[in-house]
Amino acid sequence: MASRKLLLLPGDGIGPETMAEVEKLVTVLNETVSAGFTTEKALVGGSAYDAEGAPISDATMDLAMACDAVLFGAVGGPKWDGVDYDKRPEAGLLRLRKDMELFANLRPAICYPALADASSLKREIIEGLDILILRELTGGVYFGEPKEIIDLGNGQKRAIDTQVYETYEIERITRAAFELARTRRGKVTSMEKRNVMKSGLYWNEVVTRVHREEFADLTLEHELADAGGMKLVKNPKQFDVILTDNLFGDMLSDIAAMLTGSLGMLPSASLGAPDQTTGMRRALYEPVHGSAPDIAGKGLANPLAMIASFAMGLRYSFEMITEADALEAAIAETLDAGIRTGDIMAPGASQVNTSGMGDAVAERLRAKLS
Ligand code: NAD
Ligand code: IPM
Ligand code: MN
Repeated sequence: MASRKLLLLPGDGIGPETMAEVEKLVTVLNETVSAGFTTEKALVGGSAYDAEGAPISDATMDLAMACDAVLFGAVGGPKWDGVDYDKRPEAGLLRLRKDMELFANLRPAICYPALADASSLKREIIEGLDILILRELTGGVYFGEPKEIIDLGNGQKRAIDTQVYETYEIERITRAAFELARTRRGKVTSMEKRNVMKSGLYWNEVVTRVHREEFADLTLEHELADAGGMKLVKNPKQFDVILTDNLFGDMLSDIAAMLTGSLGMLPSASLGAPDQTTGMRRALYEPVHGSAPDIAGKGLANPLAMIASFAMGLRYSFEMITEADALEAAIAETLDAGIRTGDIMAPGASQVNTSGMGDAVAERLRAKLS
């Protein structure tokens, strides 16, 4: 039996509630197909700050570096609004991304047939939607220096964030985009703001060159990120892979979430480069949504984004393709059966709580794998 080490970082707010549902699925996989998952749990975010004085401890970072995959819930919340900037909950997630070098963030937006009416957009616009936002995750304005607030001494302050991209960072995310596009419909749409940003101009230049030199058989299109956002809502099915930077990717993926019906539906995978010798790569799987303080602790959270993130983990970290397909099919069948959390509730459907949704998926997964 293979041994597969998972580090579970439930985090804050609804994070622990949604992670509990993934733990049920880990048990199903161990019992049905002897998956050999072992799990370890640690604190991250505000809960780590409260207990350990930092949003992620060095010991937890060591665990993250040593495991086969990290499953991450969510961090943040109003409780930590006054905490020092460097110790805010979100800094724990950013350290994981940076130190694990998880530069490629895959955020697929798929409209499940049963949810075609749950979106705020018309059914015909989103029915059959299957797009992938590829967000650069370790560069750009999130990490560029200087990043500070300077007191100018005249009653004024200057707040600075710096958008930086170097050639290798754009090249590697571009290659990842085309490699993914090759397994899909063969089209990459790069989004930046070359009309106002030097980094956008250079992003466009590098993406164009990598396409010409290495992937000329595939299609490349460019959009200014603002117009791209508009087209994402107007006619999202025109896209296949959207390649974009850290900040635009953050915003465009929340927009894309609403095409699928709810932020509670959008999973993500954050991947590093494969190791030259072993082929293994560092990976973290997390939903796109946050800690949802407004619904935390009430059993209202939709766990499907967290569950679908785990399915991405089965696919990308463990090559458990049959099991990943089975889990995704179990999600679709649960939705087809009219089982809904409040965020995707529809007339005639049966409303369940977080745990009820997890049980419904786990039951279907068990039936498929037994
Ligand atoms: P959010 O994603 O937490 O919530 C936005 C809205 O979507 C809320 O109304 C919430 O109830 C709803 N929602 C989110 N996930 C849901 C789910 N699974 N089921 C049902 N409804 C869901 O974003 P926010 O309110 O802007 O941020 C709250 C906190 O989360 C902030 O501290 C923010 O920094 C943090 N955050 C963390 C992550 C992360 O840990 N990856 C991501 C985004 C935001
Ligand atoms: C996301 C989140 C994070 C981001 C925050 C919590 C740091 O919004 O993963 O989308 O901005 O990247
Ligand atoms: Mn975000």
